[in-house]
Amino acid sequence: MITLDENIAKVDLSSLKEYCLGGYHWGKNNTPEDDFENLNRAPGRCPYKLYAHISSYYKTVADLGTFLGHSALACALNPDVQVTTYDIDHSHRAIKDKDNIKYVEDTIFNHIDDILENELIILDVDPHDGIQEARFVEILKQEKYKGVIIADDIHLSRVPGKPASHPMELWWENLTCSYKKDITPYGHCQGTGIFKI
Ligand SMILES: C[S@@+](CC[C@H](N)C(=O)[O-])C[C@H]1O[C@@H](n2cnc3c(N)ncnc32)[C@H](O)[C@@H]1O
Repeated sequence: MITLDENIAKVDLSSLKEYCLGGYHWGKNNTPEDDFENLNRAPGRCPYKLYAHISSYYKTVADLGTFLGHSALACALNPDVQVTTYDIDHSHRAIKDKDNIKYVEDTIFNHIDDILENELIILDVDPHDGIQEARFVEILKQEKYKGVIIADDIHLSRVPGKPASHPMELWWENLTCSYKKDITPYGHCQGTGIFKI
């Protein structure tokens, strides 16, 4: 049983600081300290403490969408957790190698069998238009995936008080599965959901 409470804010990511490289992203030059500051932001703003917390319940994690590598790094906080991170383009990667992170530079759709071997999947692939997300979930359904999935950006461009209109919000709202919970207060300000097929 995964516990989600205020203790997520206490997850200590400081051992990950040495893996942050910094570099040009978010429209500016970032020091390694800038990158760690982002990684270390409070739950509800950035999802990395949540990812580190939930990953610690599992032995294997598939991180779909590496980008800078921060989600992979967070999932790999516990050295006993093996993380495989996928991206079609690893040119943005801004972390040092870590023994329990494996990189795959290819589309997730060429590695479905391997991805399904993981107990936890973090789904965070651009352009967040609900299309790749729906395609991936359809495969999980066909394959009767038994693990847990966390989806990032489920409330992208949310206008408080207005009905869902962004494709990601519509995708999340219309997602049918056996278990689904909005855990945004513990995750990312642009929305974090957890579900099981
Ligand atoms: C929002 S970023 C991931 C951020 C990362 N999860 C984090 O929190 O640090 C999304 C990434 O998904 C990648 N991507 C998009 N479509 C993909 C696909 N079909 N397979 C693998 N990676 C994909 C993009 O190249 C981009 O780097």
